[in-house]
Amino acid sequence: MKFFIDTANLAMIEEANALGVLDGVTTNPSLMAKEGISGKQNIHHHYLEICNIVDGDVSAEVLGITFEEMIKEGEELAALHPRIVVKVPMTKDGIKAIRYFSEKGIKTNCTLVFSSGQALLAAKAGATYVSPFLGRLDDISTDGLHLISEIRTIYDNYAFQTQILAASVRHSMHIINCAKIGADVVTCPLAPILSLLKHPLTDSGLDQFIKDSKKMK
Ligand code: G3P
Repeated sequence: MKFFIDTANLAMIEEANALGVLDGVTTNPSLMAKEGISGKQNIHHHYLEICNIVDGDVSAEVLGITFEEMIKEGEELAALHPRIVVKVPMTKDGIKAIRYFSEKGIKTNCTLVFSSGQALLAAKAGATYVSPFLGRLDDISTDGLHLISEIRTIYDNYAFQTQILAASVRHSMHIINCAKIGADVVTCPLAPILSLLKHPLTDSGLDQFIKDSKKMK
């Protein structure tokens, strides 16, 4: 399972990359705005900076909502760097845009997916990645993991090549459960990845080893 970091913060991306387990980056307009990035030139420059840090796919979301806007923006984004993935929202125009990009060999990430039907359409259109939002479904008392599991079954039934990118992942149990279900990728902030490191028996065991190692010197 690939690990992507879901942030536009360069320091956090560098920290995650230094761990040696990072496979890519996802961003969205909210994450870019949080970093104060605005204006086409600055946005493009920021995506290039991310591509220079991480040797993996970098999702860059289109801001336009019509087919024509998405195509124009997406082609500009894809031309920035070969590892840019054009992130497109799950709408009628979005699906048309994914089909267009797919025929041009441009990688896509279909975002804001909350149902199996939407995921099926994204795969039919030729999306490289589909992003079901796990945590946001949990937020409204719906089983987000069940959706990931249903999409896995549907894609396996027909050998769709679209990768399931579990998004809106909030904690380490989400990551473990996505791995059990067979999601291809999880994207989350740095904290849930770091929390995979932690176990109280590791801490107490290490304390004891450090104490005993002093007896050996
Ligand atoms: O990038 C999409 C998704 O991962 C956002 O997560 O936590 O805002 O629901 P969240």
